[in-house]
Amino acid sequence: MDIGGRTVSTWHYGGELPAREIRARKGDLLRVQLRNELPQPTTVHWHGIALRNDMDGVPLLTQPEIAPGAEFRYEFTVPDAGTHMFHPHVGTQLDRGLYGALIVEDPAEPADYDAELVVIFDDWLDGTGRDPDRVLSELKANGMGAMPGHGGMAGNGGMQMSRSDLLGGDAGDVTYPYFLANGRTSEAARSFEARRGSRIRLRLLNIGGDTSFRVGVPGVPMTITHTDGFPVVPTRAEAVLLGMGERVDAIVTMPDQPLPLFGLAEGKDGRAHVLLQPGAGAAPDLPAAAAQLSARPAMVNAIPAAESVRLPNRSPDVTHELTLGGPEPVYTWTINKEVYDPARGFPVRRGERVRLRFNNTTTMYHPMHLHGHTFQVVGPAGPGPRKDTAIVLPGQLLEVDFDADNPGQWLTHCHNIYHGEAGMMTVIQYVED
Ligand code: C2O
Ligand code: CU
Repeated sequence: MDIGGRTVSTWHYGGELPAREIRARKGDLLRVQLRNELPQPTTVHWHGIALRNDMDGVPLLTQPEIAPGAEFRYEFTVPDAGTHMFHPHVGTQLDRGLYGALIVEDPAEPADYDAELVVIFDDWLDGTGRDPDRVLSELKANGMGAMPGHGGMAGNGGMQMSRSDLLGGDAGDVTYPYFLANGRTSEAARSFEARRGSRIRLRLLNIGGDTSFRVGVPGVPMTITHTDGFPVVPTRAEAVLLGMGERVDAIVTMPDQPLPLFGLAEGKDGRAHVLLQPGAGAAPDLPAAAAQLSARPAMVNAIPAAESVRLPNRSPDVTHELTLGGPEPVYTWTINKEVYDPARGFPVRRGERVRLRFNNTTTMYHPMHLHGHTFQVVGPAGPGPRKDTAIVLPGQLLEVDFDADNPGQWLTHCHNIYHGEAGMMTVIQYVED
């Protein structure tokens, strides 16, 4: 794949990076035939979709792995509109070129915009002399637990520290040589052309393995309209912070001059962009433009859901405490002191209002993702946004509520791929009375 100024050997869906977008309408039956030509078994997870459990793509839990040479037909209804994505759920495959956007439209939604731009941000190292499997084994071999404030020291070949005040300190475990927007480095960025003054609906996604992105257009405020597919009270912001697995939709007005829509790798040294191009003209000086994006970005956990999608007021029937721990002893990330075991988890019953309390006792942030449901963040002053992935900062207790309305065995895990693979995953288990 040509990632812009550099060709890398990687794994991909159908020869494109990102994969060809899948677009459906709310209520559609989606059918995707997967043929595995990779050298490893794989599965596909449909991130953000409240789908039937046996199509969720989690090996052992919801389906057998799809062997090299084998095929599998995914077929499910997409019940909710929104900006979602797909990626593998085996090993560290997500940190290769295997990802794409899954957009579900709602024909009944008023479309108050002229054009749409989907941008997937990614951190990239595959095929640059390193690959994600090796990075994980280096992280494990180097035993980061022995090094407090370990950010970026292990498995990197470099010694940069990744620090971010926004993320509460440590910004990552892995140093990446490249950051991509829609599969391209900033050296060979993609352009998006639209008439100046037109209203653009941005659909922003972070499929990074270990990187959060600060996303925005310098000097052009956005209005945030959706988090993880669900509408919020429209909120103006200079920029927005997107953790791994998170999505935000926002409206911007097309500028008069070419300007970059940046994803700045938060706490790391790098960035990617798509150039908003209203006509002719050259891009501005990129480092200077990036420096302009220094205002504090919106933290989406604080934005309330739109009335129309708020969970009905109700106190929880069951509360589960998930204490996030690690990386002791040797690059092990845990939930309630245990690493992932598909046979273990947290029982819920159909019809219950469930509260999860993510209690982060580590010195690193974790974007916690729940399969098959969209929870509502419990805000300090009332309902927060509807989300399926939410950043839990170091030392933070984040509470989320959801209605148990989709029976099955559902993973909940850190969307840092290295943390997930090092144990920080567990199961929400529907049980019968
Ligand atoms: Cu986007 Cu369990 O993952
Ligand atoms: Cu994590």
